[in-house]
Amino acid sequence: MTRVAVLKGGRSLERGVSLASGARVEDALERLGATVVAIDVGADLVTRLREAAPDVAFVALHGRGGEDGTVQELLEVLGIPYTGSGVHACMRCADKVLTKHVLRDGGLPTPDWVSLGEIAVTELGAADALATIEQRLAFPLVIKPVSQGSSLGVTFARTADEVPAALIAASSYGRRVLLESYVAGRELAVSVLAGAALPVVEAVPREREGYDFAARYDIGRTEFVCPAALEAPVTERVQEIALRAWELLGCRGFARVDMILGADGPMVLEVNAIPGLTDTSLLPQAADAAGLQFDDVVARVLEEALSR
Ligand SMILES: Nc1ncnc2c1ncn2[C@@H]1O[C@H](COP(=O)(O)OP(=O)(O)O)[C@@H](O)[C@H]1O
Ligand SMILES: [Mg+2]
Repeated sequence: MTRVAVLKGGRSLERGVSLASGARVEDALERLGATVVAIDVGADLVTRLREAAPDVAFVALHGRGGEDGTVQELLEVLGIPYTGSGVHACMRCADKVLTKHVLRDGGLPTPDWVSLGEIAVTELGAADALATIEQRLAFPLVIKPVSQGSSLGVTFARTADEVPAALIAASSYGRRVLLESYVAGRELAVSVLAGAALPVVEAVPREREGYDFAARYDIGRTEFVCPAALEAPVTERVQEIALRAWELLGCRGFARVDMILGADGPMVLEVNAIPGLTDTSLLPQAADAAGLQFDDVVARVLEEALSR
């Protein structure tokens, strides 16, 4: 019987989601006949992993520490095979600016951006370049932390007046901030499972109120449609972009590529190395639309981890 350590929780801002993802993975693993050791990740992680002596670790962590290559590096040191992407891919996905460079260098579409780090602002007078940046990217702008998830710290600025507060909001989540051109369009997510694109999910806001961007994130005000109602060539293109992003970033196991389908075609916003696995998460919904049960997803990701 395979001994699987499920790593969940942790200290990131996405702890709650991770606990839900982890619990669901544990149930699936038990149904699959594995011996499960659940670990709420903390300062005793190394000791607990040594005690558990698992054949493999299922990393159900989201956000800082768990999704950014940190836990992955520790698992490498301990010689424990693990699910999902390796250290380098996790580092690239967790950093939206690094991701965007990789995508753009690889010829994939991503909205124009400028990133501002703490040193640029405090030591190099970057504030004096703000007007130039605003001109280059044009309003509306999306301002967000470089390394954060779940829309935390994401603000839209319609005018220059709204930029300072947005920068402050985003910088409370980390030292680097990303300013990005706003792309109007349909919000799509393409999950990739073991190198194959799953059906496209569209997040449809229940009410469109012009520039009331906030509506998008309010729970209950977004509806998820899968497969998204798209023309076949658009679906193909979007899935092809997701797979190419997966390859360029070096992902393994699973990932979710977030995009906006704008007037100039699909644009990649980010790639999540460890997508949510709760019962309302997008990857399980997409798998379901492809005729895959959650247990099948877990089995496939585990298999891939063990075959490395
Ligand atoms: N450039 C953009 N244009 C339009 N909407 C955006 C843009 N960037 C982010 N958003 C919106 O904000 C949400 C969160 O942004 P995202 O880059 O996916 O970060 P995260 O999900 O890690 O917080 C997106 O799903 C989208 O609704
Ligand atoms: Mg996202």
